Amino acid sequence: MSSPTKEQILDALRVVQDPDLHRDIVALGFVQDLAACDGVVKFRLELTTPACPVKEQLKEQARAAVAALPGIRQVTVELSAKVRSSLPPGNIIGGDVRNVIAVTSGKGGVGKSTVAVNLAVALSLTGARVGLLDADVYGPNVPVMMGLTGKPGGSGKKMQPLIAHGVKTISVGSLIEDGQPVMWRGPMLHRALEQFLRDVEWGELDYLIVDMPPGTGDAQLSLAQLVPLTGVVVVTMPQEVSLTDVRRAIGMAKAVKVEILGVIENMSGPVFGEGGGLRTAETFGVPYFGSLPLTPEVRRSGDLGVPVVIAEPESSIAEAFRNLAGQIAARISTRQAATLPVLEV
Ligand SMILES: Nc1ncnc2c1ncn2[C@@H]1O[C@H](COP(=O)(O)OP(=O)(O)OP(=O)(O)O)[C@@H](O)[C@H]1O
Ligand SMILES: [Mg+2]
Repeated sequence: MSSPTKEQILDALRVVQDPDLHRDIVALGFVQDLAACDGVVKFRLELTTPACPVKEQLKEQARAAVAALPGIRQVTVELSAKVRSSLPPGNIIGGDVRNVIAVTSGKGGVGKSTVAVNLAVALSLTGARVGLLDADVYGPNVPVMMGLTGKPGGSGKKMQPLIAHGVKTISVGSLIEDGQPVMWRGPMLHRALEQFLRDVEWGELDYLIVDMPPGTGDAQLSLAQLVPLTGVVVVTMPQEVSLTDVRRAIGMAKAVKVEILGVIENMSGPVFGEGGGLRTAETFGVPYFGSLPLTPEVRRSGDLGVPVVIAEPESSIAEAFRNLAGQIAARISTRQAATLPVLEV
């Protein structure tokens, strides 16, 4: 019996659909380096993000689809990912940064920094190249949460980000002396953010996560003016009763034409209740990513400088953060697929 040709193999692979992009993996151009000889088949699936929540499922479906053809003796599938850029070329950022995601909220203390840090680390653990920019120049928390010590190095005008838990990180907190108050005003804040985007050697990044300061003021406006954001993730508390603060945050994002990727409810559980995040998302017609429970491990690991996704990877909160990272990455891929041309193979 003769073994299938490459065309026959590709045809068989067309039954495998990406559940988010709603197209088959061949039309999406995911199948790469296909080699077939005497019933032994090898190929690579190049996904749009290494954080794809269904990557193992796609791999198995692809393997099974080919294995079911007559005359196949062996199928080897490799996974890789190429994250697309949602930023126009020639933007201000120093390096090749493909997506910028701001973590914001209407109010202070709801867990923006906690979410930003764990999201960055969770994405990095999937193999993505990730940066974290602490835009909270008045109350930078990222150095403590990431366990950063020392100052960013650099030559000339360029600054080297510090690397912690696999994430390239920059924060005013790493630049000022301990305890020195930061009393910048609007224009200086704008300059600081500009420098963090332009003068830091970010290199190649799939995702740059920006931890926003509380409120909907200067920093939000400056960031949106400086760089075309891929989108914002809005963090809310469960007991969001009036929705006034969130409304302001979402209104701000809409005013500067930034996409709201979705809403996360933080600190859910018996203490603060639950449901505010979902209600917020429904009210504003934006996606809901789910909730993160109020758990002591979060504060403990934050204080120790080891984000909970690394400190306690088996915990349910770590699982929730990984799930969140997958959903956000998938949402970005879906948005890009809706606007970018699809390769026909
Ligand atoms: N899910 C959670 N469970 C327990 N503690 C949490 C959780 N999320 C955040 N915290 C704790 O709540 C406090 C505030 O969180 P965080 O600093 O991330 O909020 P923030 O929104 O960034 O605050 P700010 O507006 O001041 O920047 C921190 O001590 C953090 O460890
Ligand atoms: Mg914060």
